[in-house]
Amino acid sequence: MIWLIGNAGMLGKAVERLLIARALPHVASDKDVDICSPDAIAEFAADRPVDWIINCAAYTAVDKAESEETLALRINAEGPENLAAFAETHNAWLLHISTDYVFDGDKIAPYTEKDHPNPRSAYGRTKVQGERLVQAATARHLIIRTSWLYGHGGPNFVQTMLRLFEERDEIGVVNDQHGSPTYARDLAKAILTAVTHPTPTPGLYHFSNEQITTWFGFAEEIHRQAQDMGILKSTCAIKPITTDEYPRPAARPRNSGLDKRKIREKLGVDLRPWQDALGDYLTYLVGIKSTSGETHD
Ligand SMILES: NC(=O)c1ccc[n+]([C@@H]2O[C@H](COP(=O)([O-])OP(=O)(O)OC[C@H]3O[C@@H](n4cnc5c(N)ncnc54)[C@H](OP(=O)(O)O)[C@@H]3O)[C@@H](O)[C@H]2O)c1
Repeated sequence: MIWLIGNAGMLGKAVERLLIARALPHVASDKDVDICSPDAIAEFAADRPVDWIINCAAYTAVDKAESEETLALRINAEGPENLAAFAETHNAWLLHISTDYVFDGDKIAPYTEKDHPNPRSAYGRTKVQGERLVQAATARHLIIRTSWLYGHGGPNFVQTMLRLFEERDEIGVVNDQHGSPTYARDLAKAILTAVTHPTPTPGLYHFSNEQITTWFGFAEEIHRQAQDMGILKSTCAIKPITTDEYPRPAARPRNSGLDKRKIREKLGVDLRPWQDALGDYLTYLVGIKSTSGETHD
């Protein structure tokens, strides 16, 4: 049985939809089972034969983490460590999710799993610590780092852009941070490919949609596709700006492209361009709009 943790979050919702669609035996929890409490974990799992834990729970407020690092560390490091310790003593596997923000972004080429983490933010530091504690607590782990996630049921960049395109005549979007947008549903599929693999190779993996862009490039493509699909009623000029022109509390990597050869080769995970995945998400939003009259997740 699979135990999905974080099923009220954006990625967790995508994973749960697929678990249900594929009729895979599972249980799910979110804040009702605090991963920072080993007792709560043990109590929930007591009469359930869990052989895989998928941990999508996390502290994800990247900017707020700068002033709440202790809390973020509890959820992003102690929590996963507790889950890994549980997996170790109960002969189960843990699939844990991490982030491209573990890297400093100074590398020109995409980051491989062998590259050394050097986070620039408190959030990134807590996620690196989570990776290390999981690795130390059980050999039966898969850690998947991902980037620029968007999907159903979560506030995300695509929805923010669609709203701003309607509200404004012109917006500035950062054009000097490079990475790959990732549709949560595609990552959820990769996760299920991994946990149903007959002989998974433990370790660290990278997953995002294919090809690298900037937030500006991502925004332009959202605008183009949304216009083609008739989602946008008006046009909005998109202006490239620098990170310095859009200061945030937490520093972001300038390049966080991820090399994904390992997950394709070892776990047989499919990859596709981010533009195709975006098209699927926008098609989903069009469906919601036509039935409810508004665009929402
Ligand atoms: N979003 C991105 O762009 C992005 C990029 C790269 C990597 N990631 C990683 O991808 C994973 C999923 O991200 P997401 O965006 O889907 O996150 P999310 O929407 O913020 O969902 C996380 C869920 O975990 C819950 N949670 C928080 N503390 C908990 C605790 N102590 N015990 C149990 N549940 C708890 C949250 O509840 P509350 O909301 O009530 O706190 C929320 O429902 C995370 O590991 C994240 O670090 C995300």
